[in-house]
Amino acid sequence: MTTACGKPLEVCLQGLGRLEYRGYDSAGVALAAPGMDRVAWRKKAGRLSNLVHDIEAQPMPAATVGIGHTRWATNGEPSDVNAHPHLSQDGKIALIHNGIVENAAQLKFDLQAEGYTFASSTDSEVVAKLLGKIANTVIEETGSPDLFEAVRRTARMLTGAFTILAVDCRQSDIVVGARHDSPLVVGLGDGENFLGSDVAAFVAYTKEAMELGQDQAVCVSGERVEVTDFEGNPVTDSKHFTVNWDASAAQKGGWDSYMDKEIHEDPQAVADTLLGRFDTNGDLNLDEVRIDPETFRQIDKIIIVACGTASYAGLVAKYAIEHWVRIPVEVELAHEFRYRDPILTPRTLVVAISQSGETMDTLMALRHAREQGSQVLAICNTQGSTIPRESDAVLYTHAGPEIAVASTKAFVAQIVAAYLLGLYLAQVKGTMFRDEIHQIVDSLKVMPEKIQWVLDTQAEKVARAATSLVDAKSFLFLGRHVGYPVAMEGALKLKEIAYTFTEGFAAGELKHGPIALVEPGEPIVVIVPSSRGRDLLHNKVISAIEEVKARGAFVVAVAEEGDPDAERYADVVFYRPACPTLMSPLVDVVPLQLFALDMAKNKGLDVDKPRNLAKSVTVE
Ligand code: F6R
Repeated sequence: MTTACGKPLEVCLQGLGRLEYRGYDSAGVALAAPGMDRVAWRKKAGRLSNLVHDIEAQPMPAATVGIGHTRWATNGEPSDVNAHPHLSQDGKIALIHNGIVENAAQLKFDLQAEGYTFASSTDSEVVAKLLGKIANTVIEETGSPDLFEAVRRTARMLTGAFTILAVDCRQSDIVVGARHDSPLVVGLGDGENFLGSDVAAFVAYTKEAMELGQDQAVCVSGERVEVTDFEGNPVTDSKHFTVNWDASAAQKGGWDSYMDKEIHEDPQAVADTLLGRFDTNGDLNLDEVRIDPETFRQIDKIIIVACGTASYAGLVAKYAIEHWVRIPVEVELAHEFRYRDPILTPRTLVVAISQSGETMDTLMALRHAREQGSQVLAICNTQGSTIPRESDAVLYTHAGPEIAVASTKAFVAQIVAAYLLGLYLAQVKGTMFRDEIHQIVDSLKVMPEKIQWVLDTQAEKVARAATSLVDAKSFLFLGRHVGYPVAMEGALKLKEIAYTFTEGFAAGELKHGPIALVEPGEPIVVIVPSSRGRDLLHNKVISAIEEVKARGAFVVAVAEEGDPDAERYADVVFYRPACPTLMSPLVDVVPLQLFALDMAKNKGLDVDKPRNLAKSVTVE
């Protein structure tokens, strides 16, 4: 997004090209120039190239300012009409939005009562209409347009997460933005200034940038950048920085690989997947899934079908849901499911977990379940994909596009979504007290910070371990309880991107066979449960460590900060901050993702595109 640079359309389209990795199911631009009666805009579903071809075929007018957006649908399917920008009712203002506005339904209801009409099913259009209304109120009050003030007033009315940017044809020399829990950065050029959800949007034009703080609004023109809080108080201490990488690295947001970037998005994926799922009393509200509470109350069994990483997320969820809801939860590899004549009734809820929404094995499993009369709920990261389309209900993860073949941020988001489903079932079935559910929700809400702590404090230690173990021929991964699926996920990450032979299994199985593999120097990664309360499981896992140490193994433990036994027996310990056992997979997997990444990099491999693998497996 740019101002007063003489060619805002060109700058927007180039910036969108570099941001396309963030989302690519539709794209659009809006332009303003002196003398325009309405903003000029164009938007198209599909890749950015669709928009570019459309503009080439029918050129847009010259302009002084512009905004552009590529979308990854979170609210409303990918389509021309749901693409951004969205317009005010009078067409004088165009707005683009990232994030999820939690009170959009109420705002829309109020606006409809006043006669406002809506073309799309997005929360973003609600914000555009609201902004248009407020902008006209400001004009009535002050006698002149003031988009900056209108954006601030609008921002004060929104809950959830948002970055919004707007242009107004009555003030065609400025672009105004505001942010809450969603990123926005300012690019400081010479006679031109920029706004972008990350610096990749404008790094080809300037490397000088400025951070915008939480709950701040910004007004940029060619010459000026003005920042205030949402009340209009000036902000003068915004942090400036110089981008130290260039446009070629831009699509990866400055990271070496998409996988690097996506692992570092684990905290955001968890936070975003929690957004918009609670009502004003803090109770879970999953109306969006399209199954009524009465049907949920009747459910007496859950079968989770998924493949690979998604199946391990399902296995983690099994421990939680059975504990909370007291109904059996089976986890089945989707490709095995329909060939074993599974027992399905109308009271069985089949949960299909899939990042891409296109995995053929999972799709076939859900078709089979529906044919047998069961309800199918999809947990999916990709709006408009086949699996949610063919399911009775859908609960979207909001991890954002996952480009690297190895799944990372989708895994933590899938666990969170499945936990939300479990807690919702507990709520409607009354198997837990309301306070207990709220307590668990509170512990989920602090997990993004805890994951960030692991990323900030453990990455160097993980990198050192990966350097020292790069030549290891094989690894064993052990865990118990929720640590068991985490061990399998850690093993899968390492085999798929570092091509190292690995085996993940339940620590209790060790003595039933796998211990025969242990010889001096064999690296064994062990997920250690919390030591608080001298938990029985903790002691059993520590005993497993002692057993393999006695046979000369090199033990890498993932353990709670300050665990004295892990420190005593393991050769290397990656720490997690203290958290309830059922939350621990969200943090324990992070060093294992980093470890696989570092191992693959040390071997000089392409971490984003491992050999023989595809991101979506659309064949059975
Ligand atoms: C591993 C990985 C795969 C996928 C599996 C299912 O890193 O990415 O194991 O988890 O192919 O894919 P989705 O979730 O798209 O159905």
